[in-house]
Amino acid sequence: MAVEQARAPDLSFDDIDPRYRAFIEDYIGLYGLDAAAFCRPLPRADEMFFKAILPNYEQDASIAAFKFTEATLRHFDTVRQIVDGAFGGFEKLGSFLDFASGYGRLTRIMLQKLRPDQIHVADIYKDAVDWQRQAFGVAGTYSTPDPAHLQHADRHDLIFVGSLFSHLPAELFHRWLAALYGLLTPGGVLAFSVHDESFLPQGEAMDASGIRYFRFSESGSLDADIYGMSYVSEAFVGEAIGRLPGRPAWRRFHKGAYENQDLYVVGAPGKDVSNVFVASTPMGGFETATHLTNGTVEFSGWALERTPGRRLTRLSVQLGGETRLEVAPDCERPDVLTHFPKAANTPIGWRFRLGPELARPGEMIRLRMDSDSGLFGCAYAEFPPRFAMTYAGWSRRALRQG
Ligand SMILES: C[S@@+](CC[C@H](N)C(=O)[O-])C[C@H]1O[C@@H](n2cnc3c(N)ncnc32)[C@H](O)[C@@H]1O
Repeated sequence: MAVEQARAPDLSFDDIDPRYRAFIEDYIGLYGLDAAAFCRPLPRADEMFFKAILPNYEQDASIAAFKFTEATLRHFDTVRQIVDGAFGGFEKLGSFLDFASGYGRLTRIMLQKLRPDQIHVADIYKDAVDWQRQAFGVAGTYSTPDPAHLQHADRHDLIFVGSLFSHLPAELFHRWLAALYGLLTPGGVLAFSVHDESFLPQGEAMDASGIRYFRFSESGSLDADIYGMSYVSEAFVGEAIGRLPGRPAWRRFHKGAYENQDLYVVGAPGKDVSNVFVASTPMGGFETATHLTNGTVEFSGWALERTPGRRLTRLSVQLGGETRLEVAPDCERPDVLTHFPKAANTPIGWRFRLGPELARPGEMIRLRMDSDSGLFGCAYAEFPPRFAMTYAGWSRRALRQG
């Protein structure tokens, strides 16, 4: 396997379907980011992309690259909200550590917000750290299975740990929390994601301790003693944070990270985190395209605001950079909730028609979903829909054409 991987080339964004490349560039541009800087090749050894995302999309590299980009932008929404709430913006942030960074999908964006010398990455995979040092010029630390052996002298204003605590057994959960908290500067903030107990696989029961650990994961190489799948209650995490020195202030944001992880934000001793608010990026997708007469196509799909207390305020259909249609929700879609267990809001359904008077052949359709949280999400299709190009959000099915 290792030999096969070493021989296989990295995935270049230049090699994916140009229509998906256009979606990707458009989405990145809406964030005010540089698509060329983001779209560097994906290294073949990146398990996150090649063993998790790509197989999820039937090995379709174009869809997988779009999903990779979409997930990274959502990930960045999380970090940006922490930085804004806790520090007042990137210009006020000193040093950032992405712990358990993998091959650094976030680094592709952080480099556009901070200087390379402000960015530090760490992972147990030495190759991932080396690759980022070489590709991005950031500082890197090799992590260790046991936090007692971590050698890391620097201190950081923001330490972000995406999807590591969601894989730790109880004892390592406590010890990594203490070790990483100890790397904060005074006034710093530690943010980490977990699987909430509400995501426990069906038929399984929580342990009375508040953490349930399963000895399997997506990783092909990490030992199940140190990396599996864990599910925690808020009481467990609260108690774990309570063991840290200085009675830290902390906040929990349900589904504040990724599609299904809760986010905890913990201040260094004395640091107030009450200004931090992390909303979830709106999600949605195209599902059907029905060809009517005279070249008109009716599209339909779903949208969801996942943040408690927030709502979608606007759905707009944009072509050529301008809004051609406003869309009103046409029903509730409780069926979509199967994919979003314990969602705070009911998903909505939408439909709209586009004909030759509104859209030119080959034009990209952007459905933009704006929330009163200030965040937005986008789903993309092409006019007319010549092939299935949905795959936005959970929808892994082909666009149904009629
Ligand atoms: C699910 S991935 C998340 C990667 C990245 N944060 C992201 O969101 O793309 C988990 C990462 O944790 C890393 N990891 C596992 N155990 C670790 C440890 N003890 N120290 C540092 N990183 C570790 C893995 O190598 C992997 O890159």
